[in-house]
Amino acid sequence: MNFIRVNTYEELSTRASAIICGQVAIKPNCVLGLATGSSPLGAYAKIIEKNKASEVDFSNVKSINLDEYVGLDGDHDQSYRYFMNNNLFKHINIDISNTYVPNGCASDIDAECRAYDELIASLGGIDLQLLGIGYDGHIGFNEPDTYFEKATHKVTLDDSTIEANSRFFATRDDVPKTAITMGMGGIMSAKKVLLIANGKGKRDIIERAFFGPITPEVPASILQLHPDLTVIYSEN
Ligand code: GLP
Repeated sequence: MNFIRVNTYEELSTRASAIICGQVAIKPNCVLGLATGSSPLGAYAKIIEKNKASEVDFSNVKSINLDEYVGLDGDHDQSYRYFMNNNLFKHINIDISNTYVPNGCASDIDAECRAYDELIASLGGIDLQLLGIGYDGHIGFNEPDTYFEKATHKVTLDDSTIEANSRFFATRDDVPKTAITMGMGGIMSAKKVLLIANGKGKRDIIERAFFGPITPEVPASILQLHPDLTVIYSEN
């Protein structure tokens, strides 16, 4: 594990965007696993700047996102499809038809989950997976559990996750209670993993996830077994 401590969110975002753009430079037709949440916003803003300055070309890149709320369609302003379109895809030269986010409104959610794993396989797997981390150690929406779930699956969100994510919704009751998430199999089979976290509030979970025992009660801790993991943490 390459654990990098930085002093500011700005530095974290600069480093993360450099790693992502470096991946695209060495493999222009790579598959990027992308994440939502507030942590990647700074990196996405820097990627947009670099793309506008023609320093990085996304025309042959494919992307696959980690998760989506069940019941929100892509036009809902809290859906992860909407987040990705508005915070990244619309502003760079990626072909939107090469961007994938689970369909939270699929009529058959189990079939959607199976199809998502088939999609990951058909793309040849993920070259670089970007992750944030939840306060309870979730990655994607893989919540603490008694075992690591391998496949893409439907999850019931923990109360603490609903509480944390309610800041984006009008009321807590508006937060969907379930979501689709890529499983640990998809994440762990990515060739490289980059996890970013910032803020004093994430310090405890970062210590538990990367310097404590590997346990499904702290889902991110399985990343300690990944052969090419970079973690960037800024306390500020
Ligand atoms: C959500 C997402 C995760 C993300 C987490 C942390 O629950 N499903 O993929 O890592 O939030 O978000 P933030 O970066 O806003 O702390």
